[in-house]
Amino acid sequence: MKQDSGIDVTLLPSSDPSAWASILLEALPYIQKFMGKCVVVKYGGNVLGDSVDSNEEIDAELDSFAEDIVLLHSVGILPVIVHGGGPQIDEWLNRIGKVSAFSNGLRVTDAETLEVVKMVLLGKLNPSIVQAINRHGDKGVGVSGLDSSLIVATKAKGDIGFVGDIESVNPEIILSILKDGLIPVVATIGADSQGQGYNINADFGAAELAVAIGAEKLVYMTNVEGVRGKFDDPTSLIQRMQPGELENLLGSDTIQGGMRPKLQSALSASKNGVSSVHILDGRIPHAILLEMLTDRGIGTMITEEVVEK
Ligand SMILES: Nc1ncnc2c1ncn2[C@@H]1O[C@H](COP(=O)(O)OP(=O)(O)OP(=O)(O)O)[C@@H](O)[C@H]1O
Ligand SMILES: [Mg+2]
Repeated sequence: MKQDSGIDVTLLPSSDPSAWASILLEALPYIQKFMGKCVVVKYGGNVLGDSVDSNEEIDAELDSFAEDIVLLHSVGILPVIVHGGGPQIDEWLNRIGKVSAFSNGLRVTDAETLEVVKMVLLGKLNPSIVQAINRHGDKGVGVSGLDSSLIVATKAKGDIGFVGDIESVNPEIILSILKDGLIPVVATIGADSQGQGYNINADFGAAELAVAIGAEKLVYMTNVEGVRGKFDDPTSLIQRMQPGELENLLGSDTIQGGMRPKLQSALSASKNGVSSVHILDGRIPHAILLEMLTDRGIGTMITEEVVEK
């Protein structure tokens, strides 16, 4: 049963108006805690999923995520979006008959693959996210790691082609965008001082950026409920870990595929001043609002702190 507001009142705990107000009031301490603080949100290509396959202008899940981000921004929190694009890159490589190999969760990137990575991230996904944000308030600004040398990279070790290790992050452009009251949306293509471009894993990009801007929180939104203690068991969700516990877990073979760079980067961020790092299921509607502004903690949280929720 929807009213004009679009809210399905049957989903609310009670028809008592004070219950409605208490939902809003629950957010108050969180708004006060995070107001003026930066939150880096890595939006996984796996969550972006369907929007690339359809030619629809507006993808419903992306639109809902964008609305959540605009809400956070409107109450004084400073979100920075960093996005991935794995499945969409696969899809476009497939069109030219290429299949990527992966090494420790990183895409082996030859020159042709690098071109596709750039085209998909900078030509398709980044503007889609910016447009979705702008539908809710005209504040989205797309940048890549190339802009103002945001991400300076060097060739990663091993025989994995144009995969870059992050040498430094120059966050001034992000700080200026935030200062202007806007929401940066970052695609993690980097370059070295000679102008050679590199494919940078977005999880590492998000973590390094979070450290460089002194973010309070780093949130990875992906397509799994959080970190599983047993890779193939969805009931083995780890709700909270200290960095030391995460380090031990990374030593095991429980962490596979794309979860490996995610947790390596999460560990590095939490050891370098980001007080809480979260792995959330981006398929849950409004996952980021539930995590940030309500008493319900969801997914996996990595922190040294004693946590109340
Ligand atoms: N122990 C584990 N717990 C949970 N997920 C795991 C684990 N080990 C491996 N995974 C895999 O990691 C995947 C998430 O990483 P992945 O790189 O695929 O997504 P993403 O980072 O959100 O997307 P993108 O790389 O496109 O930005 C999950 O879909 C899951 O299959
Ligand atoms: Mg990934």
